[in-house]
Amino acid sequence: MSVDEVDVQAGDGMNVIRLVRLAKKNALSVAMYRALSEGLEAGERDGSIGVHVLFGSEGVFSAGNDIGDFLAQGGGTGAGFDDGLRFLRLLPMLRKPIVAGVDGLAVGIGTTVLFHCDLVYASARSVFSTPFVDLGLVPEAGSSLLSPQRLGYARAFELLVLGEPFSAERMLAAGLVNAVVDEGDVEKTALSSARRLAAKPAQAVALSRSLLRGDLVPLGERIEAEVRLFKERLSSAEAQAAFADFLHKPPASDGAAD
Ligand code: COA
Repeated sequence: MSVDEVDVQAGDGMNVIRLVRLAKKNALSVAMYRALSEGLEAGERDGSIGVHVLFGSEGVFSAGNDIGDFLAQGGGTGAGFDDGLRFLRLLPMLRKPIVAGVDGLAVGIGTTVLFHCDLVYASARSVFSTPFVDLGLVPEAGSSLLSPQRLGYARAFELLVLGEPFSAERMLAAGLVNAVVDEGDVEKTALSSARRLAAKPAQAVALSRSLLRGDLVPLGERIEAEVRLFKERLSSAEAQAAFADFLHKPPASDGAAD
């Protein structure tokens, strides 16, 4: 199955999902969120699939949420917000492991999605950043909970609030990345681990993964709490000005919340 700028190929026990919107640095549009959710849900249903694999493109993983969509959503149309929400809510519900291969920039959701992945391989040139606060926003995808758990509070604050970009080597030391590999080896390495996982007894993998992930209720609650704040922030004057600045458009300040 291939949907516009998200390519989904199921085979060999793997559900391989690729972001292919290179002209926009793989920024995630509303349609792409929908396609990602559909691709993941199809992989969950397919009994021949043991593992999801997530790739960006060569040189760029994802520039995060499409800022034009943010501008429109905060500017009053609200269109498409539910598609992003569906994706965020799906992430903690997935029963099958996710292996990610990152080569290049991973911004916003491009980084926070990785906290839901079980194995992450990155090239040395990869850079992870979450400029939520600079955009007048708050962290999403459960990252306000998962990031302190995984990285420790000090590094989580630096990443999520200070907005400091992390190199691949730093993310390896911090515990988000499993291995830093040569640019040309990212996909090969990720697929090799994914193939090994897919070949294992599926129920034992799912049960073990579930034990390692622990109680997911707090994660679901945190995602909802983030969503409530995020939605408010989208229409704030701070956020609208930041979006407009990026897109070089006048801010939709009418009705702005602050
Ligand atoms: N939303 C919408 N469009 C985006 C985008 C995003 N998140 N990220 C990149 N693009 C678009 C640019 O507007 C540009 O479009 P154009 O060619 O029509 O002008 C194109 O992708 C290429 O981006 P550009 O900025 O020229 O590339 P760059 O290599 O100089 O910089 C980034 C790449 C990712 C550092 C930069 O584009 C950026 O900071 N993007 C925003 C990241 C972000 O804040 N995401 C939201 C996180 S919550």
